Formats: sequence, C-alpha cells, structure tokens
Amino acid sequence: MRLKGRRVLIVGVSKGLGYALAYFLLKEGASVVINSRNEEKLKEIKKSLESIGEITYVVGDVSTLEKAREVVEKAGNFTDLVVTVGGYIEDTVEDLKALDEMINNHIKIPLYVVHYSLSKLKEGSTIVLVSAIRGIYTAYPTQLSYAVGKAGLAKEVEILASELLSRGIRVVGIAPSFIDGDFVPDRDWKKLRKLGDFKAPPEDFARVIVWLLTEEAEWVNGVVIPVDGGARLKL
Ligand SMILES: NC(=O)c1ccc[n+]([C@@H]2O[C@H](COP(=O)([O-])OP(=O)(O)OC[C@H]3O[C@@H](n4cnc5c(N)ncnc54)[C@H](OP(=O)(O)O)[C@@H]3O)[C@@H](O)[C@H]2O)c1
Repeated sequence: MRLKGRRVLIVGVSKGLGYALAYFLLKEGASVVINSRNEEKLKEIKKSLESIGEITYVVGDVSTLEKAREVVEKAGNFTDLVVTVGGYIEDTVEDLKALDEMINNHIKIPLYVVHYSLSKLKEGSTIVLVSAIRGIYTAYPTQLSYAVGKAGLAKEVEILASELLSRGIRVVGIAPSFIDGDFVPDRDWKKLRKLGDFKAPPEDFARVIVWLLTEEAEWVNGVVIPVDGGARLKL
C-alpha cells in the first residue's frame, strides 16, 4: 500500500477514468473524495467501492470560481488533488462553437479548483491535471478549441509547478490518448488492448496517476507524461 494516510480529492469523476482512479487509490490505502454534478453516479461509485476503503462524495459544479470554492470547502481536508473534469466538443475556426466551453473546462476549471485547494495542500502534496495527446501532439483539424484548451492545460502544469516549488507542492499531468469505455472493477483489462493501440481501458491511465501521487514519483515535477502505449508514434 503506497498511499496510506493520503486523502485524495478527485474533481470531475466519470464512470471511466475517475471511477478507475478511485478504485486504485483505495487499493493503495488512500481515502478518496469524489466529485461531479451527478449524485446518482457518485452514489453508485461509492457503493461499489466502499468495501475497499473510505470513500465519500461531494456533489457540485466547479464551472465558476464561486462554485469551485463550495466544492473544495465541502470536500474537507485532503492531501492531494486530481482534476479529471472533461468535456469534448469538436469545432473549427469556421464555427468556433466549442470555444467558450472548452476554454472553461480545460483551462479555467483546473485553475479555479487549484486556487481554492491551496489552503488545504501542504508541503509533500501533489496536484495532477489531465491534458490529452491531442493537446500536446498532433490534433485533428476539427479539434480546434479542445486541443487549444488541452495545450493550455499542459502549460498550466509547468507554470503551476514552478510557482508552487517554494511550497513543496508538485504539479504533474498526464496526456491520455483515448480512454475506452467505463471502468469495471477487478477485470483483466490487459486483455482489452495491445501496446500501440490508440484506445485503452481506463485502468491504463488511472494507474499512471496513482504512481504520480506516490513517493516513487517525488522527483517528477512540472511535466505532462504522454500515456498512450506509444500510439502517438503512429499518428
Ligand atoms: N475520454 C478520452 O478518450 C480522453 C482522452 C484524452 C484526455 N481525456 C481527459 O481525461 C479526463 C477524463 O476523461 P473522461 O472521458 O473520464 O472525461 P469526461 O467524462 O468528459 O469528464 C469527466 C467528468 O467531469 C464531470 N464534469 C464535467 N463538467 C463538470 C463541472 N463543471 N463540475 C463538476 N464535474 C464536471 C462530468 O461528470 P458529471 O456530468 O457527473 O458532472 C464527467 O463525467 C478529462 O480531463 C478528459 O478531457 C479523455
């Protein structure tokens, strides 16, 4: 158990990455607070994982500074933070229909959440943000606002890490390729993909975040790690 005594807040939990992450964190001995706007989903996840360890939830939207403050306050104390808020809308410069939402979800929300979490995080804490391969490597021409948002988020990792060096707080990120489907506890997920596939089950991405939160990764800071099984090499 590599995370005994840690309490991790996961903001923006889906049935894919967020659920898998909560599962692996509990398995490592951490307690977990999960957040999203959908109480039914959070209840379901809590019910399926509560036999492994301590899991609580906070229902709430983090799309404005004020709302993010409420969620972070309700979460109580935590030692580490992971923001997995997503949202994927395609657009082009012809229509710009996703611009506001993608900039809000991928650039503003992580900053809102980190801003209010700073009063809880201490020396030795870690913040993990989730970019995307399409933000740091080649994007489709129809991914304008999404890729710009995820590229900005990758830059946030570097700048926040630099700012928080003096507090002893690490900021790191992952850039997933394609997170395929919902998480299913205790299955043999490795059978579902092979090295180099662009799509992989949530387990493959969640386990890297868990590692980033452990003491084993304490010398990794201010970088976004591509987590894609090497699929970007074929793009
Ligand atoms: N899926 C992929 O293939 C892929 C690829 C590359 C990167 N990523 C990134 O990896 C992360 C996880 O991916 P995912 O597919 O699990 O993401 P997702 O389902 O798009 O988003 C995660 C969850 O965030 C919650 N959320 C959205 N807006 C919110 C808000 N304002 N306040 C609180 N919660 C909010 C949603 O839950 P509620 O609706 O219940 O609030 C949603 O289920 C995301 O950052 C995503 O952009 C995903």
